[in-house]
Amino acid sequence: MNEETRNKNGIGNEQKKSPGEKPAERKKIILSGIQPTGIFTLGNYIGAIRNWGVMQEEYHCAYFIADLHSLTVRQEPAALRKQSLEAFALLLACGIDPDKSLVFIQSHVHNHAELSWILSCNSSFGALSRMTQFKDKAARHADNVNAGLFTYPALMAADILLYQPDYVPVGEDQRQHLEFTRDIVEHFNGIYGNVFRMPEAYIPKAGARVMSLQDPAKKMSKSDPNPNAYISILDEPNVIINKFRRAVTDSETEVCFREGKDGINNLMTIYSVITGRSLDQIERDFAGKGYGDFKAEVGSAVAEKLRPIREDFARFMQDKEWLAQQYRRGAEKAAEISARTLAKVKKKVGLLMP
Ligand code: TYM
Repeated sequence: MNEETRNKNGIGNEQKKSPGEKPAERKKIILSGIQPTGIFTLGNYIGAIRNWGVMQEEYHCAYFIADLHSLTVRQEPAALRKQSLEAFALLLACGIDPDKSLVFIQSHVHNHAELSWILSCNSSFGALSRMTQFKDKAARHADNVNAGLFTYPALMAADILLYQPDYVPVGEDQRQHLEFTRDIVEHFNGIYGNVFRMPEAYIPKAGARVMSLQDPAKKMSKSDPNPNAYISILDEPNVIINKFRRAVTDSETEVCFREGKDGINNLMTIYSVITGRSLDQIERDFAGKGYGDFKAEVGSAVAEKLRPIREDFARFMQDKEWLAQQYRRGAEKAAEISARTLAKVKKKVGLLMP
């Protein structure tokens, strides 16, 4: 979206029509976010960001770095600042074009925190207690089970609802948070009228849950203490190839997608998404070959796919001024769009307008 089209068809705006004109089909709105805690993994890329780039060609898209969410776990301040800038540059390197999509950093738009408070007051303790991510994180960070960690889904609901999106492209692990958001919409609209558009999760058929290379029963995660368990999208080709070579599989030799072969199923899914080949085709291509050949092939295909991202990232990081211009431009537009929803909500819940 360039500046001109954005102003005409801003996210959340209905297109104006002249009298007698048939209503034009509304361009759908997409929104998603990612935390800046560490360089994105192949899981983030395959499960989410890869689709974000494709969607911007057809829809009004808004993507942001969810830095406020990262505060739910204790962060080293200088590292978080650095990672947020890197995450922003990485999004652009992954093909999110700031002239086509709205791209910004969450904490630059205070409307998120403000709506989050109002939605927290409309979130039940019971529903928040059922969030599996809260239970997991509370167990992993037992020394810091803070209120933000608990109310995190209300902030995520605010992120989403401020922009009135139709679809939210995320990986499988965010499904429950999306359901929570949908429950808030139903509850809130039930009390106050039609305030929020009901968003739908857009979860890819393949690759919605990329698994750890060291423990295929666990999700691939950037917070995994074992770096061999995940591919960082900035890993050098030889590192990527080695990590795949060491990937945990099973004691068989046949490359085929079958129940109980979690390690091979994961590698086949990754390879299928990266090369566009079907699982059947992959089975045929590797018939009679062992796991060694297959792992080497997956490693080089992934390394090749990530090469341009790594190169663009390095280029963008050399021009911090340009990056700052992009996130400031994004924040300004995001503030303008989200302010409309926030004003409507404040009025509805009975806050005296200034
Ligand atoms: P985050 O930062 O954990 O992950 C970003 C996106 O990557 C997906 N993902 C995966 N997909 C497949 N396989 C994996 N192993 C894998 N790991 C991560 C996630 O599902 C996600 O789509 N709460 C969100 C950030 C957020 C957000 C939002 C998202 C904040 N506000 C509003 C959508 C809308 C999170 O922590 O994602």
